[in-house]
Amino acid sequence: MGYILFLPLLVISIAGCQPDPPIPGERENGILSIPIGFPAVEFPEDNKFTRARWELGKRLFFDPVLSRDSTVSCGSCHKPHLAFSDDVSFSPGVQNAPGVRNAPTLTNVAYLPYFTREGGVPTLEMQILVPLQEHNEFDFNIVDAGIRLSHIPEYVEMSELAYGREPDPFVITRSIANFERTLISGNSPFDRYFYQDNKDALNSLEIKGMNLFFSERTGCSDCHGGFNFTDNSFQNNGLYTIYNDLGRRRLTGNDNDLALFKVPTLRNTGLTAPYMHDGSFATLEAVIDHYNSGGEDHPHKSKLIRPLGLSNDEMGAIVAFLHALTDTQFVENKNFNN
Ligand code: HEC
Ligand code: HEC
Repeated sequence: MGYILFLPLLVISIAGCQPDPPIPGERENGILSIPIGFPAVEFPEDNKFTRARWELGKRLFFDPVLSRDSTVSCGSCHKPHLAFSDDVSFSPGVQNAPGVRNAPTLTNVAYLPYFTREGGVPTLEMQILVPLQEHNEFDFNIVDAGIRLSHIPEYVEMSELAYGREPDPFVITRSIANFERTLISGNSPFDRYFYQDNKDALNSLEIKGMNLFFSERTGCSDCHGGFNFTDNSFQNNGLYTIYNDLGRRRLTGNDNDLALFKVPTLRNTGLTAPYMHDGSFATLEAVIDHYNSGGEDHPHKSKLIRPLGLSNDEMGAIVAFLHALTDTQFVENKNFNN
């Protein structure tokens, strides 16, 4: 993958940073409030949260200026009203170039230990280099993007305010990551029921689905467990006998990693159709049918993926529970919209 070429450049640009002290009280104004039951969000030493950095990152996230022909922004594929995912299997980049993977939600990316579906990128800052230069996304490069921004007085001003320097690769990667770390979602009906002790927040069907989801019988929470509904492991969930996408093997070259994909969060999953790395399931009903069938045979398929023998009512209950993971406050939060 070509983005690896840019990593040394990023390391060079880490030197010479002068972080501002975080603005006191910022956590209280609704941008960065941590939901009950969630751990604190860690910001790197050289990229502590400040209002100025966040404002700049948000502006850049929604500005097509970072793509070669200024037509596509991060927000073109990571749409706020879809929990920062997209509603097509493969989102087009510049010149309508088709993508090769389904755009994942950015819900709670602050908590992920690595990024992309094979886990090949260690930080949010570095992840920004991927779309910037992928030919079917921005088809640009981070150095030219910095030069372009340095001709726009408003960006120069915001950049000086945020990081004490002109727009450059350091500023672009740091500010967008600063914004992304605040995309925290933890106020769904499930959260109100489970973490906030509001026993009216889920109806009986959703509770039935929740109990099935967390049962040994389905095994769902063995992979999609914890506050973020993922254990961040790489698994094969039996989609195909032969995969077009090599999955984690693309990164490691190791045959044992063939067709393994990162377990995604299920938060806001009711908004992130179509599903899986290739967007091959259009609905949550289709996803549950898949798990109930036990999936296709693959040498790397997890033992947890096997016929479940669920009734139609039980499958309906699990779907209802998954919809109860939708946090409307998050998707409607004006702080996160363009
Ligand atoms: C053309 C559509 C498109 C654009 C534009 C785009 N992305 Fe993505 N994004 C994707 C796809 C597809 C993936 C999955 C990539 C993979 O797994 O290889 C992804 C993955 C990610 C991830 C990793 C999420 C995870 O769970 O691992 C982050 C973070 C992200 N994008 C942020 C951004 C940012 C920031 C921008 C703008 C600089 C951006 N994206 C622009 C389509 C897009
Ligand atoms: C062995 C681990 C494992 C188990 C058990 C498991 N899943 Fe998954 N799940 C995954 C992986 C891996 C993916 C992503 C596959 C891909 O990207 O192609 C996924 C994807 C999904 C998705 C699509 C999410 C998206 O944004 O594309 C949903 C919904 C889902 N699982 C629900 C469930 C439910 C409900 C159960 C229990 C019936 C379950 N899973 C059991 C590993 C697992």
